Amino acid sequence: MYKQQLLERIGNRSATIGIIGLGYVGLPLAVAFAQAGFKVIGLDLDAKKVEMLRNGQSYVTDVPSAELATLVREGKPGGSLSATTHYADLRQADIISICVPTPLRKTKDPDMSYVISATESVAAISHAGMLIVLESTTYPGTTEEILVPRMRQAGLKPGEDVFIAFSPERIDPGNKHYGVKNTPKVVGGFTEACSEVTHAYYATVADQVVRVSTARAAEMVKLLENTFRAVNIGLVNEMALMCDKLAVDVWEVISAAATKPFGFMPFYPGPGLGGHCIPIDPLYLSWKLKTLNYTARFIELASEVNTSMPVHVVNKIAEALNDDSKAVRGARIAVLGAAYKRDVDDVRESPALDIIQLLNERGALVTYHDPHVPSLTLEHGKPLQSVELTAEWLRAADCVVIVTNHSVFDYRWVVENCHLLIDTRNATAAVLTDGRVIGARVVRL
Ligand SMILES: NC(=O)c1ccc[n+]([C@@H]2O[C@H](COP(=O)([O-])OP(=O)(O)OC[C@H]3O[C@@H](n4cnc5c(N)ncnc54)[C@H](O)[C@@H]3O)[C@@H](O)[C@H]2O)c1
Repeated sequence: MYKQQLLERIGNRSATIGIIGLGYVGLPLAVAFAQAGFKVIGLDLDAKKVEMLRNGQSYVTDVPSAELATLVREGKPGGSLSATTHYADLRQADIISICVPTPLRKTKDPDMSYVISATESVAAISHAGMLIVLESTTYPGTTEEILVPRMRQAGLKPGEDVFIAFSPERIDPGNKHYGVKNTPKVVGGFTEACSEVTHAYYATVADQVVRVSTARAAEMVKLLENTFRAVNIGLVNEMALMCDKLAVDVWEVISAAATKPFGFMPFYPGPGLGGHCIPIDPLYLSWKLKTLNYTARFIELASEVNTSMPVHVVNKIAEALNDDSKAVRGARIAVLGAAYKRDVDDVRESPALDIIQLLNERGALVTYHDPHVPSLTLEHGKPLQSVELTAEWLRAADCVVIVTNHSVFDYRWVVENCHLLIDTRNATAAVLTDGRVIGARVVRL
């Protein structure tokens, strides 16, 4: 009975949707459902975010404020978006998607406190006929071990009174080609009925929904995807270290290998992994396997190689300065780009933080510029402000380091205005192949 009711409400868009956690994942999802014609209530414990949303202001680059403002405008017919900090406001919700963080603790073990806290808050306001979907990336078994028992404790029978599923979020911040609509959505329910309603729910915003047999399988899908990336990046980073020893240009090698039309997919080396996903998610899987006395060897090895990359970059800087008869101590080092990847404002786990920290520890005088990151906080709470990008700043530096290859940077101008440039992203490739450029000595990874 409840299943039919939910399917009808999804079909005629009368279902009210609650999105919990309005960050990089939750906000675009809330907007997508509101645009599909639903009444969406976004919930976040961060009052500042809620206040901004109420004023139609976005804090996520992929969501333009203009789009948001139309949805939050009161009295608008069709889909709408409102924001709250109170779980009680979700009492009437038919569907809830949980998009809270799943970071690591200092010990590199999963920090499930956000998922547990959000689930307990949902359990307190849950009612028969609700669909609850976990979207946060997590270890296989979470939906069954954390969500299901709490709903049972609330007096609801999963699969009959209440529907519970996992659907991994695949969003790629900053990606101009793939968003909620054209990225297939994987879903796995606790029961068949749970999968059915979850499928209908996401089919309202995604062109393709892929059903797997269980929530556990859906959790594993996400970890396979991100482990695949982490391991391949680890492999290519190790290739870069080997090429360095062999005096071979790793970028040239990858570009030639990529001409093979089958059986090869190019991955590129860099200063290290960053973001809330690739450096973290595989460790959720290896942690779970440790509890089953199994060592996830590829994950551990890739993690070891990837986390060593900032040290490699700092060694490259030291070597290059040495060639100029300079020491790291006292050297003025200008870091270009602090975000973990191109064209985003996210510095979580960014290798720039490690590189700056390591250089500081060796006595360098580090400044940075990132148009998307106005300030940074280093490990010991030391704040750093982004400086203005000027030719004077570049010229005054003993060494400039490209850590993030943002597309707004004019790399020709950068090469022309510095003495020594360490390029960790091959951002200057096009400039360097043009023999007319006169400027920095460029050292690539
Ligand atoms: N950022 C990505 O590119 C990405 C991509 C795919 C999957 N994911 C996964 O999605 C999840 C969310 O990631 P994100 O990048 O959106 O994180 P985020 O930090 O940008 O957003 C999470 C939000 O949840 C809020 N929050 C925390 N605890 C809460 C609670 N108990 N109740 C309500 N709100 C709460 C926080 O205030 C924050 O605004 C993580 O599991 C992440 O691994 C992220």
